[in-house]
Amino acid sequence: MSSNNDSIKKTLTVALSLCIVCSVVVSGAAVSLRSQQQFNAEAERKRNIVQAAGVYDAAKPITEQFKQFETRVVDLSTGLYVDWSDEEIAAYDQRKAASEPATSRQLDKSEDIASIRRQANYASVYLYDGNQDGEADRVVLPIHGYGLWSTLYGFMALESDVNTVAGLTFYSHAETPGLGGEVDNPAWKAQWVGKNVYDDGEVALRLVKGGAAPGDRYGVDGLAGATLTGRGVSNLVNFWMGDSGFSGYLTNLKEGKI
Ligand SMILES: Cc1cc2nc3c(=O)[nH]c(=O)nc-3n(C[C@H](O)[C@H](O)[C@H](O)COP(=O)(O)O)c2cc1C
Repeated sequence: MSSNNDSIKKTLTVALSLCIVCSVVVSGAAVSLRSQQQFNAEAERKRNIVQAAGVYDAAKPITEQFKQFETRVVDLSTGLYVDWSDEEIAAYDQRKAASEPATSRQLDKSEDIASIRRQANYASVYLYDGNQDGEADRVVLPIHGYGLWSTLYGFMALESDVNTVAGLTFYSHAETPGLGGEVDNPAWKAQWVGKNVYDDGEVALRLVKGGAAPGDRYGVDGLAGATLTGRGVSNLVNFWMGDSGFSGYLTNLKEGKI
């Protein structure tokens, strides 16, 4: 009996059966949890939009809070809203669009200061009208760019003057915890609130290595030991707030053209 169990054939049969059972369990779990994972990722993205706008309330469900935001899609070449149905707007995936030649454009090296290679033709923006007077109090803009190890994806929210920062968040990156990962530090993120983006029409908002001077309206402290991630953040802010990003849209908003 024992000699039978010790046979190579039986050993291989048991090992193979175990592999098959385990792989079925693991792939079954991955498939059955996929929709939950997608739901969680979407909830996290929405939470970041609400947090960037500075109106997040941890006690309330994020889906409820997000209902206070109106999603619009901007044609980045004109800075105007596209005339799409609510379903088309809700279904638009800017990250996916940025990877497909038909829905994005290749950036020249000189233009690509955020190191993203391709830019989607359209961008989803989120308008928050807290006092329900029909005028947006905050506009939340998607931003992304390369740090040291990864592309950082996040949001920058501006006040209705489209110049004062209401908040900045990153919901996805792979920078080193404690170094570049300090972009998630609430104390560092709080520094952005109230800073100005534009000085005489030019993007002036940036990180300052060694610390911003007191009263610097455009400077945020650089990240200690993470100059390269910090440079990436300055570059992506410069890109998305500049001519290739949202400056045309923000000018249209400011001038009441949209
Ligand atoms: C394991 C390891 C992880 C690092 N992660 C980061 C990072 O996430 N972001 C960053 O800018 N620098 C990171 N650095 C440091 C960079 O290599 C570089 O030294 C640093 O950006 C220079 O910043 P400093 O001038 O502020 O010291 C890391 C270094 C090591 C050894």
